[in-house]
Amino acid sequence: MGHDIAGRLKSNGQEHILNYLERMNAGERQSLLEDAARIDLEQIAELFGSYRSLRGQGHEQKIFEAAEVLAFPPTDVFAAERRRLAGLGEDLLRQGRVAIFLVAGGQGTRLGYNGPKGCFPVSPFRRKSLFQLFAESIMALRSRYGAALPWYIMTSQENNAATCAFFKEHGFFGLGAGTVRFIIQKENPSLDLDGRLIISPDKKIFKNPNGHGGSLYAMKDSGALAQMADLGIDEIFYFQVDNPLANIADPLFIGAHAENRAQMSTKVVRKVDPAEKVGIIGRVNGRLGCIEYSELSQAEIAERLPDGRLRFSSANMAIHMLNRAFVEKLTSDPDFRLPYHIAVKGIDCLAPDMATVHKIDGIKFEMFIFDALGFAERSVTLEVPREEEFSPVKNSAGADSPDTARAATIARHRSWLQGSGKLPAVPADLVIEISPLYALDAEEFAEKFRPPPNLSSPVYIE
Ligand code: UTP
Repeated sequence: MGHDIAGRLKSNGQEHILNYLERMNAGERQSLLEDAARIDLEQIAELFGSYRSLRGQGHEQKIFEAAEVLAFPPTDVFAAERRRLAGLGEDLLRQGRVAIFLVAGGQGTRLGYNGPKGCFPVSPFRRKSLFQLFAESIMALRSRYGAALPWYIMTSQENNAATCAFFKEHGFFGLGAGTVRFIIQKENPSLDLDGRLIISPDKKIFKNPNGHGGSLYAMKDSGALAQMADLGIDEIFYFQVDNPLANIADPLFIGAHAENRAQMSTKVVRKVDPAEKVGIIGRVNGRLGCIEYSELSQAEIAERLPDGRLRFSSANMAIHMLNRAFVEKLTSDPDFRLPYHIAVKGIDCLAPDMATVHKIDGIKFEMFIFDALGFAERSVTLEVPREEEFSPVKNSAGADSPDTARAATIARHRSWLQGSGKLPAVPADLVIEISPLYALDAEEFAEKFRPPPNLSSPVYIE
């Protein structure tokens, strides 16, 4: 077998691997050969080809348009329609036709936390992890709707074991181990700028998870899609691990998506600061997708509509509804491909002397879920209030960091307290955290809350 693989490597421009093999002991050689045997060399050529063509088309003319947005400002005019759509969503939830899908396979490089990002202690007072907050919300939703609401979590080769161990250690936060299913996304080898495989310091071929777009394939390949069909699930609520304010299985979103018979829908928040570096849901050459910040010109970024709003203001929250049959159809089509996005990153590379490690520029290939929007014939882009639903943890400090997420959580819960009308005034510096097990939204909170005789900061309500 060794010779075959060596031959294949050689004829595919990967002969540098042979230099490493020569200097390895028998065990190391065996494992590298096995690793190499699993690499699809044709796919590598395809990946590198996509890198070259992307580089070549730097000046391709793209026409951007804003997406049509569905929004419900909190006024009486919209209240009835909002209630009607949320009612439709609630019906689907009660009938057990919705599954929850979390993507948690990312590397979280920017946060720099040692462990899966979902384990990060994010809540302001109790320091609950992101996973715990989501688990408690799902527990509350299951009891509110009396439905199974199965939870699928996509992990990567890199973080699956640690993620599963975390859930075990915490007794699955009371959800029942059988109701949470982990599925592992695939990886792509990273390549150097000449299209060659990279050997990492642990003497393995360096790979990275294939991006959140890999979730569509992971759903299919793991059998999760088939299982959902067996369970009578029609709609999938998709969200990311980094947003502690995520309004999981929001009935308004589910209802709006289902009523429009949309195949894939997206939640957005209003971008107000032109400088905010965020993807915009819109049309690229007529096709729905996400316009990256770097793709818009300075003039387009700053362009305003007559009412003063930014023209490109639908900031992508990376929260989607996916129709199960749509995902099934896409992933069953042998010609279906999501495009690769490339990022050139510093990667530690072992030199063939098997001793020196250099940081080299490597190309990382990822698929992005929002590219599937272009395949949907019908889609809803729903705008929701940022302060209620969006505060992602991306960086270790500054914008989109644990500090901003904690401040946003406190601000949201302070506004629930204020809105309950049960206290004359809420001190501006009150630190408050409300457990999802107590209330999932302002309405539920207002119904339940009985003010204690004295309220001193910090307050935890459960
Ligand atoms: P990000 O784009 O923020 O990437 O992921 P990241 O890898 O987590 O963080 P950085 O860029 O290294 O700092 C957005 C969401 O997509 C998931 C992440 O877990 C997060 O929920 N994701 C990303 C995957 O599940 N798999 C991937 O391959 C990439």
